[in-house]
Amino acid sequence: MKIARVTLSDRASAGIYPDLSGPEIERILTASFDPAPTLVARLIPDDRAVIAETLRTLCDTDHCDLIVTTGGTGPAPRDVTPEATRDILERELPGFGEAMRAVSFAKVPTAILSRATAGTRGRTLIVNLPGNPRAIGECLPPLLPAIRECLKHLHGP
Ligand code: MTE
Repeated sequence: MKIARVTLSDRASAGIYPDLSGPEIERILTASFDPAPTLVARLIPDDRAVIAETLRTLCDTDHCDLIVTTGGTGPAPRDVTPEATRDILERELPGFGEAMRAVSFAKVPTAILSRATAGTRGRTLIVNLPGNPRAIGECLPPLLPAIRECLKHLHGP
């Protein structure tokens, strides 16, 4: 299984602060799949065309089974991850975003500021997560059963 983790951040990609969210995604996913998946990592700025092209290549050329993005899902002007994701999705799976907002809202009232979405392109599942490293631990584990099931369906008959 091949998984890409993609961090979307102007400042982390410019080296202004370290990318803590990408490694956290990698830690959770490595521990969640047996055998351990092959991980590829990308760190890019909040640019809609660059994000869409990066995701397209990870799907169509690198044939990733799963892509998890972090960051750029909020209401700030430079937050364009959901738009860039929709640019390349073939089918949207809105339940992923709805579920992470629902589970997080009970703990963090600002969770509803994330516009994260998910969907499929070919046999690749793409899931947006918020950028806050703590949000990764709150949002990703509850999604794992649906991620596993979706991957089975994508590779099924
Ligand atoms: N979800 C969880 N579980 N924990 C958080 O701290 N932060 C919220 C929200 N979702 C947060 C969360 C905030 S403050 C914002 S602005 C949005 O995610 C979008 O974050 P992003 O633009 O870094 O993706």
